[in-house]
Amino acid sequence: MSKITAAITAVGGYVPETKLTNFDLEKMVDTNDEWIRSRTGIVERRILREPGKATSDLAVPAIQEILRKKNLQATDIDCIICATVTPDMVFPATANIIGDKIGATNAFGFDLSAACSGFLFALTTGTSFIESGRYKKVIVVGADKMSAIVDYTDRNTCVIFGDGAGAVLLEANEDGYGVQDSILKSDGSGVKFLRMKAGGSLHPASVETVLAKEHFAYQEGQTVFKFAVKGMADVSAELLEKNNLTGDDISWLVPHQANLRIIDATANRMGLSKEKVMINIHKYGNTTAATIPLCLWDWESQLKKGENIVLAAFGGGFTWGATLVKWAY
Ligand code: UT7
Repeated sequence: MSKITAAITAVGGYVPETKLTNFDLEKMVDTNDEWIRSRTGIVERRILREPGKATSDLAVPAIQEILRKKNLQATDIDCIICATVTPDMVFPATANIIGDKIGATNAFGFDLSAACSGFLFALTTGTSFIESGRYKKVIVVGADKMSAIVDYTDRNTCVIFGDGAGAVLLEANEDGYGVQDSILKSDGSGVKFLRMKAGGSLHPASVETVLAKEHFAYQEGQTVFKFAVKGMADVSAELLEKNNLTGDDISWLVPHQANLRIIDATANRMGLSKEKVMINIHKYGNTTAATIPLCLWDWESQLKKGENIVLAAFGGGFTWGATLVKWAY
């Protein structure tokens, strides 16, 4: 019997309609369009404004798009893995809430917290479920409502993040298509450079934590930038070497969209020309766990069966990694 691989067989995405442009931000904090464009590559980002809407409401339409495309019922799904740092609540898992909203009554689900690398960590987990033969249809969704944890008086972070969700369906493949290899890394010593200080068991929510603005994302941008440039480029190069590939063998790089300069450094290190790099940071900003599947969503119609694609990310934790996919359709 041939080896079972986990193929991505459909992609769905969702971004809210409301746009927050660099010019809007100029009116909110001491920043300007030129600084944001030249330092990050971002022009606008999408924000989920409606009261009562949460991360699950971003994920649901992304998954429903997949069900429509594949002519599936929600009851056909075996498992939902939701990568997010902005769950609807601390518990229960947002994946459960998503499952309930779409009617996936036969699926179990759980959340996975690996910040901007969350989608890659979840994809690797879902891949193992498929490869084992235990589950047939696994949804991996990266979804973040970053606007819920961004301080819109802090110019260091509010210009960067946006809201969105992207999802893929994983199914078994016996012709060798799908996820080929993955290298994932974590380094907890990076915790102090990118985190939400309060709201967990260390510093539960209190009047003091709210007044100290400790329920917002905090980032030491320059430090994270240095680690990200090295981490994402190194792991992508390591993945190529491990699989005896060069940049010429790769059709697309799908990088986490945190900063255009980090993306350029990774592409250069892999020997890839700009045309092979998916970039949509100008439209959506950094949507944390959603950036990579949102790129696949934007580029889905251009992808061809058999193409080698490298997905690469770096994020809070620190977490980082790269995944090699042979496109299946
Ligand atoms: O996605 C998860 C992982 N995260 C990342 O990969 C993000 C990595 N970091 C970055 O992308 C960049 O560090 C930032 C985009 C966050 C910041 O860019 P930078 O080039 O590292 O800027 P900086 O923090 O070194 O600040 C340079 C200057 C400072 O002013 P002085 O001290 O030189 O006078 C800042 O105060 O730019 C100032 N500055 C701003 N000016 C206008 C910082 N933010 C802004 C702003 N508008 N929004």
